[in-house]
Amino acid sequence: MNVAPPSQEKFPSHAAFYNWLGSRSPFFRLMEPLRRETTGQAYGLVLEVGVGTGLNFPFYVPGQVERVEAVDPDSAMLVYAGRNQEKALVPITLTQASAEALPFADQTFDSAVVTLVFCSVTDPMRGLQEIQRVLKPGGTLLLFEHVRAHGAMAARLQDALVPLTTRLCGNCHWNRDTLQTVKAAGFHITRLRELAGVMHPIIVVQATRVYFQSG
Ligand SMILES: C[S@@+](CC[C@H](N)C(=O)[O-])C[C@H]1O[C@@H](n2cnc3c(N)ncnc32)[C@H](O)[C@@H]1O
Repeated sequence: MNVAPPSQEKFPSHAAFYNWLGSRSPFFRLMEPLRRETTGQAYGLVLEVGVGTGLNFPFYVPGQVERVEAVDPDSAMLVYAGRNQEKALVPITLTQASAEALPFADQTFDSAVVTLVFCSVTDPMRGLQEIQRVLKPGGTLLLFEHVRAHGAMAARLQDALVPLTTRLCGNCHWNRDTLQTVKAAGFHITRLRELAGVMHPIIVVQATRVYFQSG
């Protein structure tokens, strides 16, 4: 694991809470089909951005996936991910890094998996451009995210609660229009599903890296 020395005894509370939720929350169990669907499409050399505690690990398909390079800026999350590595049927390497500065060469990966991450990335556009850079031309972005509500009232309520969600839920901006950012970053959307939810809609996206984007 390529991780700066973490405090293994006393985890920052968000990582510990997320790990606890991952094993017990019914909401997280509801996410499992989405994890299976999204992660199950990954192929070749795979990048997972914002790996968290490694909840996607069991869903990588051996034979289809050669290896996974998984990154997260939070060393405490990576300690939990390290414990969950044994649930994977494919080789996984963990590295401490953020989406905005991926420590990989241009055009390295066949596919990239991102689940529930871009709500908390500091600079989402920069992060998506970095994913473009390290994907091979024709490479696939597989993503699901909770996004900005469609209804004006619900979106305004999301906006009002962002100061709370960023503080309590690991910098979560639950009012972000991530689909727009994926498109603006230059990805070509090849499949899109929107799951209804008044305050918590979710997008499931498959997109292709169509051209080289420098810097
Ligand atoms: C809600 S958790 C999701 C974790 C995992 N992807 C999942 O589906 O369970 C959000 C994750 O994004 C990570 N994250 C936050 N900022 C990031 C950034 N700039 N680049 C990459 N990951 C980031 C957090 O550390 C956290 O592990």
